[in-house]
Amino acid sequence: MVKLPHQLFSPLYSLLSGSYMLIHSSSQLLTLAGGPQRGRALGTLGLIEDGAVVVRDEKIVAVGTTAELKASYPGEPTLDAGGCVLMPGFVDPHTHVIWGGDRASEFEMKMAGKPYLEILAEGGGILSTVRQTRTASIETLIAQTRPRLLRMFRHGTTTAEAKTGYGLQTATELRLLKALLALDDESPLDLVMTFLGAHAIAPEYKGNPQGYTDLVCETMLPILREWWGTHAPRLSLPFVDVFCEDKAFNLEQSRQILTKARSLGFPLKIHADEFANIGGVSLAVELEAASADHLVKTSDADIAALGKSDTVAVSLPCTPFGLAECEYTPARRIIDAGGILALATDCNPGTSWNESMQFVIALACRFMKLTPAEAIAASTINSAHAIRRADTIGSIEIGKQADMLILSVPDYRHLGYRYGTNLVKHIIKRGQVYSVDVGYYRTA
Ligand code: NIG
Ligand code: FE
Repeated sequence: MVKLPHQLFSPLYSLLSGSYMLIHSSSQLLTLAGGPQRGRALGTLGLIEDGAVVVRDEKIVAVGTTAELKASYPGEPTLDAGGCVLMPGFVDPHTHVIWGGDRASEFEMKMAGKPYLEILAEGGGILSTVRQTRTASIETLIAQTRPRLLRMFRHGTTTAEAKTGYGLQTATELRLLKALLALDDESPLDLVMTFLGAHAIAPEYKGNPQGYTDLVCETMLPILREWWGTHAPRLSLPFVDVFCEDKAFNLEQSRQILTKARSLGFPLKIHADEFANIGGVSLAVELEAASADHLVKTSDADIAALGKSDTVAVSLPCTPFGLAECEYTPARRIIDAGGILALATDCNPGTSWNESMQFVIALACRFMKLTPAEAIAASTINSAHAIRRADTIGSIEIGKQADMLILSVPDYRHLGYRYGTNLVKHIIKRGQVYSVDVGYYRTA
């Protein structure tokens, strides 16, 4: 990655503290204004033709048409969107982006027909990545994760959730968090952290899942609570997540972990119904989790429960795609029930090594029958809500963080329609302009 001198990109001069920047002449400005979109309201783009936005420092200060804002802000520095789409940056609300090594050999086994959970039960899968992660230094973990984050950013993700979960022992889980905090500091995109010590039963507890569950509850979570206060006192507490699934944590163990986490003040997430329906969604709704994620085998009763709750249904279409499976989240039924649907990459070394929300949108349109507008809302304002950040990101509204994309296309429906190449041209992150065409740079 090359940091380029900002002289190569003149609008950057407008980003000096206190000055304004007028981004104008978009073909379509997608504001996504109005908050998270529930049920059939999904896909409300708030489209302004020939739209413009004014940014001051890190924030959006005006939204309107080019004519209106040119009149109100004459003589301010400008960035010409050149007849392209201007929209909020993607928010990716479910990633396992930090890990050591890879699992290319397992990919071959899976494509030859060996089931994912069988590989895990034999000590491979997540446990293979755990071995490679435990032996990696923090410097190695940071060096291996950095390019993934930059690929995410270049594909338009301006905020990503990032889970631990490949340590499964207190010291390594905390090392992963420490690395994520360092990556958050150095990277242009923002990270929102999740503790997933309950990602699999640690190898030391093989055959004793209850023993490992007790360790998570009685040792890891209390230590994490204290550690966070010392290492990240200015950040809100991380989410706590659990893999509620056959061969991982059963419903009672998941309840024990999430209840303990809640009693310590942590906000909650859950992996549910990826391979089997064992009740994780209802548990998430009952405990008011921010999101329930995966949702492939979700029952009608659980869909109805999601429809009445504020727990976001996070769908990860790259995961069945990555595993070459045919069943995807029943998104239309979740929408019809009134649920809040979001999309994410699930970026991880086992089921979905993909950093691009654009590809997620392409899959969601084809296999979950979302319209491009629905998939865009599920990847911006609703995914911001899934990490409880919809008050500051996910839409283009006055007062929000200036996190936006200029795509290289004139019509938002190119998202979904096209895939496999990057349609992002410029990224505006906290008011700083990055050009995908020529690398990236930042000031300060
Ligand atoms: O979300 N399901 C659990 N975790 C990941 C896979 C992790 C791995 O295989 O390394 C997922 O699909
Ligand atoms: Fe996951």
